[in-house]
Amino acid sequence: MRHTALPTEVVEVINAMPHDSHPMGVLMTGICALSTMHPEANPALAGQGVYKTREMQDKQIVRLLGKIPTIAAMAYHKSTGRKAAPPNQRLDYTENFLYMLDGGYNPQYRPNPRLARALDIMFILHAEHEMNCSTAAVRHLASSGVDVYTAVAGAVGALYGPLHGGANEAVLRMLARIGSVENIPAFIAGVKNKKEKLFGFGHRVYRNFDPRAKIIKEVAENEVFPLVGVDPLIEIAKALQDAALSDEYFVSRKLYPNVDFYSGLVYRALGFPPQFFTVLFAIPRIVGYCAHWRESLTDPDTKIIRPQQDYKGVWLRHYSDVGVRTAEGADTLSKLPPSNAYNRRVAGENWM
Ligand code: CMC
Repeated sequence: MRHTALPTEVVEVINAMPHDSHPMGVLMTGICALSTMHPEANPALAGQGVYKTREMQDKQIVRLLGKIPTIAAMAYHKSTGRKAAPPNQRLDYTENFLYMLDGGYNPQYRPNPRLARALDIMFILHAEHEMNCSTAAVRHLASSGVDVYTAVAGAVGALYGPLHGGANEAVLRMLARIGSVENIPAFIAGVKNKKEKLFGFGHRVYRNFDPRAKIIKEVAENEVFPLVGVDPLIEIAKALQDAALSDEYFVSRKLYPNVDFYSGLVYRALGFPPQFFTVLFAIPRIVGYCAHWRESLTDPDTKIIRPQQDYKGVWLRHYSDVGVRTAEGADTLSKLPPSNAYNRRVAGENWM
C-alpha cells in the first residue's frame, strides 16, 4: 500500500491521453511509463542481472502491485471527467481501489463491504492461471532480459484481445446484441455457421465447466444481485448457456462456459462500463505475471525464448534476374525522390 502513489510524470502521460481512450490502452501506457521511471528498470542494466537479488525483485513487484490500481483508477476517470481520489493506505487493496473510483474528495467515503468483498473474490479468482496467452507473453518478453515493466505492459496487451481477457467485454456486448431470449436460436445458428462466436465459451485447457465460472455465478446470485438487483441480461445469459449446453455443436466440441461468461455480468452489476471489464481482469492477473517473472529469473533452465518455425512452403522458387524484372509498381518506386535518411546515409553522415 506504500507504493500506491504514482510519479507525477506518469500522471502527466495518462492525462495527455484522449478522454475516450480505451482503459486497457491507458493501463498499458501507464505501465510503459513506469518503465522509464526507475533507473534499475533500464533494459541494458536488467540484462546484466540487476534483478538478481530477491530484494530487487520484490521491490519491482510491490511497486507494480501498488501502482496498478492507481493507474486503473485514472484510466476509469478518463471517461467520467472526474479525478481519482488519492490512494487511501489505511484501506485494504480492493477497498482502496473502489475508494479511488468513488471517494471523490470525501476521505470518509467507504465502499460497501459486501461489494468490496465480491470484487475481492473476483480478483482472487483472476490472480493466476498458469501458462495462458498473456502469462506466456510476460515470460517471453522477460526472457530477453527486458525490464519487468515492459514485460508486464506487453502481457497486458495480450490480455486485451477478445479471445483472452477481452472476452468479458465481448460477452456483455454479445448479450446486449442478442437482446432477448427469442433471438437466441438465430444467434446459435450463426455460431454454428461460423458467422458468430459464442464469447465466454470454450477453453484451450478446460473441456468441462471452468471451475471459476461456477464460483462467479454464485457470487453474482448470492452476493451482488441481492444488493443491486438482478441484471436483465442474466436471463439471456442463462438461456444462452442452456441452449449451448444442449446443442450437439457445443457438446461434441466440449465447449462449456469459461471465467468470462459471468464475470462481465458481475462487473456490470457493480456499475462498471464494459470497456473497463478487462482492466478488472488485468489488475489481479499482474500478480500472476510477477510470480512467473520471478520464477523465470531464478530458473537455471531459462534461456531467451526463440520458438522454431517449421517452414512448409515452396522450397525452390524460380525467379527472373533483378535487371529484367517488369513487376508492376517498379516504375513508380524509381520515380520517388530519395528520402532524407537515404541522403544522409549516402553522405556518410553519422546519425547514431
Ligand atoms: N464459439 C464457437 N465455436 C467455438 C468456440 C466458441 N466460443 N470455441 C471453440 N469453438 C470451436 C472452434 O471453432 C473449433 O470448431 P471446429 O472443430 O469446427 O473447427 C472447435 O470449437 C474447437 O476449438 P478449439 O480449437 O479447441 O479452441 P481453441 O483451444 O483454439 O480456443 C478459445 C480456445 C478460448 C480461444 C476459444 O474457445 C474461443 O474463442 N472462445 C471464445 C473467447 C473466450 O471466451 N475467451 C476466453 C477464454 S477463458 C479466459 C481467458 O483465457 O482469458
